Order: sequence, then C-alpha cells, then structure tokens
Amino acid sequence: MTRLIFATNNPHKVEEIQAAIGSTLEVISLKQAGIEVEIPEPYDTLQENAAEKARVIYQLTGSDCFSEDTGLETEALAGAPGVHSARYAGQERSFEANMEKLLAELEGKTNRKARFRTVISLMLGGRPYFFEGICEGQILTRPRGDKGFGYDPVFQPLGSPLSFAQMSLEEKNRFSHRRKAAEQLVAFLRQQQSTHPQP
Ligand code: IMP
Repeated sequence: MTRLIFATNNPHKVEEIQAAIGSTLEVISLKQAGIEVEIPEPYDTLQENAAEKARVIYQLTGSDCFSEDTGLETEALAGAPGVHSARYAGQERSFEANMEKLLAELEGKTNRKARFRTVISLMLGGRPYFFEGICEGQILTRPRGDKGFGYDPVFQPLGSPLSFAQMSLEEKNRFSHRRKAAEQLVAFLRQQQSTHPQP
C-alpha cells in the first residue's frame, strides 16, 4: 500500500481524506510523522498555497506527500472569502467569528449561492501534480448542526436538506469537495502504479 504524508495540522481533514480514499492509500498526518511545523499560506490562490505546503514538507522529509487548500466562494460577495477563508474575520482563525462575519456580509442578500473548492497538491518523486474538487451549495441564514468544522454549520450542499454540520462524516463525503479531489488523487496514483509498477 502506498504511504503518503498529508501536510496538514487539521485532524478533521485527515479523517475526511482517509475515509474518502479507503484502504488504497495510507495517509500519515504531520503529527504521526513527528513533524511539528506551522505551514504558511501566503498566496492569493488555492493552488499556490497547496503547492507551497507540499513543497515545504517534501523539502523537510524527502518523502512523497500531498497537501490541500480549501476556500468557500460565495457568488454575492464576488468569490469571498475564497482563498482568505481561514482568516476571514482575523488572524486568530476562529470558526465562529468567520461564520458570523459571513452571515453579516450576506445579511439581506437573496443570492446565497456558494461553493467549496479544494485543490490538492501532490509531490511525487519531486514533481508537483494538482487535483481539484468542487461542492456547490448555499449559505444558510443561521448555523445548523454541530458536527464537522469550519463553515460546515452554515453550508448546505445542493441536493441535501441538511447542512454539512448536520451530517455524519460518511454523508458529508457523499457531497464533499475534499472527497472529489481525493478521488482524483487516488485515480492518478493507481494509473502511476499500473504504468510504473514498483518492484
Ligand atoms: P484551509 O484549507 O485550512 O486554509 O481552510 C480555509 C478555511 O475554510 C478554514 O477556516 C477552514 O476551517 C474552512 N474549511 C476548509 N474545509 C472546510 C470544510 O470542508 N467545511 C467547512 N469549512 C472548511
């Protein structure tokens, strides 16, 4: 089984990705790899931030690894908070303050359309590869549910009456941006293994 370091400090992301890809790939979190590092997200695109995170961990470990960066994009706010989703309400990266700010910015707006977009950056043999997953939906007028993390209580994916925070991990993964990107990663690795089998 292929083992890959997942360059994140977010345990929710590790859990979601591992559930999405099953046993085809063993995902090692930074914590499990014994790496303690605060990875910067200095860029204005998800792709550049994801690439930087994977590059930092690759340089540190010399091991194949991947990272992801996710943003919540709303139509009425011209794509905001987007790449700035984590620090939307300030440097402390509070989930509650971020949601409050988003609800305040959308107050009175009828267009609640939004989407989560995840970009995964894989470093394989020192080369970067990218995969994207999108989940369309809408921003609720108030938070619902207490599962998940981040903006989950205010996001309702298209095709469900529930917010992400009202879903189990398996239900969220039926719709999730992260699961869609992870599946592409797995398909790519399978293809690599069939064209360049390991001895
Ligand atoms: P980052 O990818 O960790 O930079 O995430 C950006 C922001 O979006 C953070 O505030 C996360 O908590 C939030 N976020 C990322 N993925 C999800 C998700 O699947 N559901 C809800 N919020 C998320």
